[in-house]
Amino acid sequence: MMQSGASSIVQFENVTKKYGEGDATQLANDNVSFSIDEGEFVVILGQSGAGKSTVLNMLGGMDVPTSGRVTVAGQEVSKMNDRELSLYRAGTIGFIFQFYNLLPSLTALENVSLVKNIVKDAGDAEEMLAQVGLAEHKNKFPAQMSGGEQQRVSIARALAKNPKIILGDEPTGALDSETGVIVLELLQKLCREQKKTVILVTHNADIAQCADKVIRMKNGKVREIKINDSPKSVREVEW
Ligand SMILES: Nc1ncnc2c1ncn2[C@@H]1O[C@H](COP(=O)(O)OP(=O)(O)O)[C@@H](O)[C@H]1O
Ligand SMILES: [Mg+2]
Repeated sequence: MMQSGASSIVQFENVTKKYGEGDATQLANDNVSFSIDEGEFVVILGQSGAGKSTVLNMLGGMDVPTSGRVTVAGQEVSKMNDRELSLYRAGTIGFIFQFYNLLPSLTALENVSLVKNIVKDAGDAEEMLAQVGLAEHKNKFPAQMSGGEQQRVSIARALAKNPKIILGDEPTGALDSETGVIVLELLQKLCREQKKTVILVTHNADIAQCADKVIRMKNGKVREIKINDSPKSVREVEW
């Protein structure tokens, strides 16, 4: 079993999540335990319905466990009230979703600038876009950008919060493999060079080759936790 070392930033301890009541009860997470170290590149792997998004939503403070404990950066997230959760989401977590979730009527720059409304010392939007290689596209609307470019805008938006942890729920799920590689490379670079903890949910086992740690889930349970001693760089993998 994983022990929580001094460098552990995320801990799930016997986390269970039930949706619904009685006959309609869905056990989305069943006694899930794992820990993640600061600066780790982690893949949560499993088929559709395995409970991956449920883990990510509780880790991100968007949902709360039915029982068990979630601790992130020394804070007990599973005990927080709505106000505390809101501050936690703003201050600690950057989110990336499968379909980017950009506002269509705002330019790339405006989408990233929105973070200023929820975070006091938000990163400069132009700088964030430059970091993801999109300085020249800052005045484009989402519809004028490719999927990969839109996803990079959403990464810039996540970075503007200066989060300790970046969570991605199937972040390459809507991209062709070439574009997906660019997005994964960027996420791996943020992990290696900026020491961000990056946690990705995916059903794509190829991505797991790049992870420091792979948490494999099935039927709401953790089936295996594997430490990768020599994770591949995204470029090395044959996609
Ligand atoms: N809000 C919800 N209400 C009811 N059931 C849910 C809800 N969210 C997820 N579930 C159920 O929990 C299980 C795990 O879902 P999820 O975490 O989304 O899996 P994954 O992300 O691995 O596809 C599924 O059976 C799903 O139908
Ligand atoms: Mg999911």
